[in-house]
Amino acid sequence: MHIYDLLNKKKHGIALSKSEITYLIDNFTQGQIPDYQMSAFLMAVWFNGMSKEELFDFTQAMSHSGDNLHLPFAPIPVVDKHSTGGVGDKTTLVVIPIVAACGIYSVKMSGRGLGHTGGTIDKLEAIPNFQTSLSKEQFLQNVRKIGAAITGQTGNLAPADKKIYALRDVTATVDSIPLIASSIMSKKLAAGSDCILLDVKVGSGAFMKTLKDAVELASTMADIGTKACKKTAALITNMDSPLGYAIGNSLEVQEAIATLHGHGPADFRELCMQLAAYMLYLADKGSLQGCRALAEEAMYNKKALQKFIDIVAAQGGDTSYIEDPSKFPRAPYIGQIFAPESGYIAKLDAEQCGRTSMLLGAGRNTKEDKIDSTAGLILNKKYGNYVRKGELLATLYTSDKTLLPAATKTFLEACAFSALPPPEEPLVFAYVNADKVVMFHD
Ligand code: URA
Repeated sequence: MHIYDLLNKKKHGIALSKSEITYLIDNFTQGQIPDYQMSAFLMAVWFNGMSKEELFDFTQAMSHSGDNLHLPFAPIPVVDKHSTGGVGDKTTLVVIPIVAACGIYSVKMSGRGLGHTGGTIDKLEAIPNFQTSLSKEQFLQNVRKIGAAITGQTGNLAPADKKIYALRDVTATVDSIPLIASSIMSKKLAAGSDCILLDVKVGSGAFMKTLKDAVELASTMADIGTKACKKTAALITNMDSPLGYAIGNSLEVQEAIATLHGHGPADFRELCMQLAAYMLYLADKGSLQGCRALAEEAMYNKKALQKFIDIVAAQGGDTSYIEDPSKFPRAPYIGQIFAPESGYIAKLDAEQCGRTSMLLGAGRNTKEDKIDSTAGLILNKKYGNYVRKGELLATLYTSDKTLLPAATKTFLEACAFSALPPPEEPLVFAYVNADKVVMFHD
């Protein structure tokens, strides 16, 4: 087999066979195929797509390129969730404890934020001493003991994806549905869960800007998971404006804790409930309605909060911050943004809000950048709210006051005002699995 012939085939839109895909991935992972040839392959996929079989083989080959976790001790299904990334998305911090409190093992390997989207690992590191890089053994031990663990990528999981993602980043091939689907699913398959719930975000702050693309990505991932014998489904959720009020690492952890107390913003709490209910449903905990009731009970009787405390304790974090969130340090500089005009908030662009948070020090431009865990913003108003000129729109937090002017400008660019109320935006657009797409709104 010659890589040149495979590239030529792919260039003409001909699907590669399983043995050709395995050859490509194995040799690339071992350094036998150079980056320039893999880059050519990725660009050919960007233009020509992949057949369903080819994509499944490609995903499987990446998921088998390193360690595969097994959770043989689990007498019940193990559930994983994955969000395609958004602004103010701290759902993992609430949903994983809820599911674990309902007696289902949940495993979560999370990433760091990059660009305008946040990452769960950065949020958790705002809790003093929280260990985000668990060994495989520690990870499994924690899942066995308390039913859940949230860690950065453990061990040598899907190393082919890591190498390929780095190439996609510099060859303009990130925005390809088959490449995104295989990248996400290769890691999910290697992480060893039985059920996978995907939260596919759509809107200005998401990878997928249109509902059509989001549904296609969700169906593609559900198809891969189902072929791999994992119960897989997706919710398509709104990321046109930020989730909740808090954006920025420590601020989001505090909002998640408030939510675990049964408070928290209505949109965020509702999304957590829906995600938790669907995870329990995939794990055969009952009807969807029954699973929703279980999730609500776990939140309101504080069992989910206790589970979060257990997760933090098991990962070395200082639980006194969870018990008393006023202990979280506040950023030394605060900026307030006031409404420049009266009207309904007709746009609160998620991507621009994420960029505001980044500009305040909460995010990174490159993987090496250090972040300020106290930085970010709290929205005082949400999409659809009415504001009077001069009313407080948002409060900015940073450790470097020279960052405030640019962040203020970016935030104001995120906003638009209208005389009439803007249309109501759905929180969840659709449920998708390998067989069907159920739209919740016309
Ligand atoms: N997240 C991933 O892990 N991979 C992608 O390609 C996009 C988002």
